[in-house]
Amino acid sequence: MKKTYVITGSTSGIGHALLKAFVNDNTVFAGYRNEKYASVLEKTGAIPFYIDMERKDTVAQAAAFIKSKTDKIDTLINVAGCVVAGVMEKIPVDSVRKQFEVNTFSHLDFTQRLLTLLNDGKVINISSMSSFGIFPFVAPYCASKRALDILFNAMSVESGLKVVSVKPGVIATPLWDKSVELNKDAIKNCSGYDKEMKYMVANARKNGKEGLNVNKVVDLIVKIDSMQNPKPSYTVGYDAKVAEIVSKLPQSLINTLIKQGIKTKISSVK
Ligand SMILES: NC(=O)c1ccc[n+]([C@@H]2O[C@H](COP(=O)([O-])OP(=O)(O)OC[C@H]3O[C@@H](n4cnc5c(N)ncnc54)[C@H](OP(=O)(O)O)[C@@H]3O)[C@@H](O)[C@H]2O)c1
Repeated sequence: MKKTYVITGSTSGIGHALLKAFVNDNTVFAGYRNEKYASVLEKTGAIPFYIDMERKDTVAQAAAFIKSKTDKIDTLINVAGCVVAGVMEKIPVDSVRKQFEVNTFSHLDFTQRLLTLLNDGKVINISSMSSFGIFPFVAPYCASKRALDILFNAMSVESGLKVVSVKPGVIATPLWDKSVELNKDAIKNCSGYDKEMKYMVANARKNGKEGLNVNKVVDLIVKIDSMQNPKPSYTVGYDAKVAEIVSKLPQSLINTLIKQGIKTKISSVK
């Protein structure tokens, strides 16, 4: 049966791979923030809609556009996201606000606006293993994903809406190179943490090439989408499973393990 999907962040990485998985047999509303992608999305057979997660007016307009075209959504997949990184002593608080706007608040706003169309539908959020909250130097990202999970889980408990949090580990997508570009000022403004930042940049470059194939996430989401009663949360990848286990240890032990891990990693940075 033909279903209706709404996917934000459908121009790249996980979102674009999801779009390709669903578009042939279904109606897919595909979100973009850069005009150059509108025609690319249209050519796939999707219905493109403009949304910039940093701008509330466009979130409202995007929801209104979708409501004008359909009265039912089977699955809303909140994918759009970015990584704000840096040292917590120095990071501008406005960068942290931006992180929450893009990864958390906009998704809540967009979902609330579409709730009337989601009666028997599902919301699948692309969270992250960072939601387990154990990684330094990307604390804004971790916090935004944890907050996303908490807010949507409560919505599910309160309302009965089916909400699933998918928490991938490292996936090979353009996100990593984009994160180096997005955080270039924070990386520059890191005196006292130069080695840590050099390691983070090298690691991001490596993750973008050597992470898990994006189809692992797509396969899981296709499976979750077909389930009548999916679990509230799924991890993808060995690293995500390890992060989940580590997050259940006492905080003092987590901190010791992470500090030791960072020390080992940066010992080889020149
Ligand atoms: N890659 C990983 O290792 C990994 C792991 C765990 C979780 N995730 C999560 O998976 C989701 C997808 O990431 P990805 O790896 O597929 O990265 P990606 O290739 O960079 O895709 C991110 C998507 O979000 C869009 N986007 C970013 N900021 C936006 C904004 N302000 N407004 C509207 N759209 C915006 C991007 O648009 P543009 O094409 O215009 O940039 C792109 O379509 C993110 O939520 C990310 O946090 C990724």
